[in-house]
Amino acid sequence: MSPRHFLRDDDLTTEEQAAVLDLADAYKADRFTAKPLAGPKSVAVIFEKNSTRTRLSFEVGIAQLGGNPVIIDGRSMQLGREETIEDTSRILSGYVDAVVWRTFAQARMEAMASVSRIPVVNALTDEFHPCQVLADLQTIRRRYGRLAGLTLTYLGDGANNMAHSLLLGGATAGMHVRIGAPAGFVPNPQFLEDAKKRAAETGGSVALISDPRESVDGSDVLVTDTWTSMGQENDGKDRVGPFRPYQVNADLLAATGKVDSTVLHCLPAHRGWEITDEVLDGPQSLVWQEAENRLHAQKALLVWLLEQSS
Ligand code: CP
Ligand code: NVA
Repeated sequence: MSPRHFLRDDDLTTEEQAAVLDLADAYKADRFTAKPLAGPKSVAVIFEKNSTRTRLSFEVGIAQLGGNPVIIDGRSMQLGREETIEDTSRILSGYVDAVVWRTFAQARMEAMASVSRIPVVNALTDEFHPCQVLADLQTIRRRYGRLAGLTLTYLGDGANNMAHSLLLGGATAGMHVRIGAPAGFVPNPQFLEDAKKRAAETGGSVALISDPRESVDGSDVLVTDTWTSMGQENDGKDRVGPFRPYQVNADLLAATGKVDSTVLHCLPAHRGWEITDEVLDGPQSLVWQEAENRLHAQKALLVWLLEQSS
């Protein structure tokens, strides 16, 4: 078996991304009947960082598909002592049918995949959060009926996993992706370049715009995320002051100039910091649908990867 991995958003082509989103919509419409993981197939879901939505969506989703979710706190594994990532991967390949992993550096995820005989899914690294962006794209597509040609602006920490994944995933979908971020918190130049290349193939575009009002002007979708990602709590940077002008509030939302613009946030939200209660709980917020869609998108991704790998 040659396993198909999902380590970053551009591991899927535009057509493949659309196929996964179609399947996610099918699962949303008909949640519990198809059991493609019956047997059951086992999926290890390993966390080295906290999680609410990702854990729930994979554990519940795998069970709904007829599979056996094996949820593991990575910090309690021998991986947390001196067993190598590669040896851990070889062991996992002998027991389970896929591995879903939340960890720190992307290089760790690549090491896991490098010797894996089963699909490896990135459930968040410091650099990317591609599972979340599949759910985001599903949510946007359901609202607007399309992705290509829409303008999405991500505001806040432009150097974090959500910014990078929205760049790559949005460009793959043919969207116009803007990053509204302060100096010192801009995307990794290599990932920006990768997204630019992908956008050139899909008719999308990517742009870095430091002025928050200019960055949202004409945008269909605003997205934000925490100013302090997991693992950055003590990095010595001021993670409040530089981000204040990028807070998603009613004023910035109005600055899109579009009455039907919408707002996403992967959650957890820090209410009153990167987003106000008024916007998060307001009529233009899609965040609760977005969170629910993690379930459908993760089911679709797993089933699709396993099909591609067999
Ligand atoms: N959005 C997201 O990944 O949430 P969790 O950290 O709760 O899994
Ligand atoms: N950027 C956030 C996303 C949490 C789902 C983090 O990495 O903590």
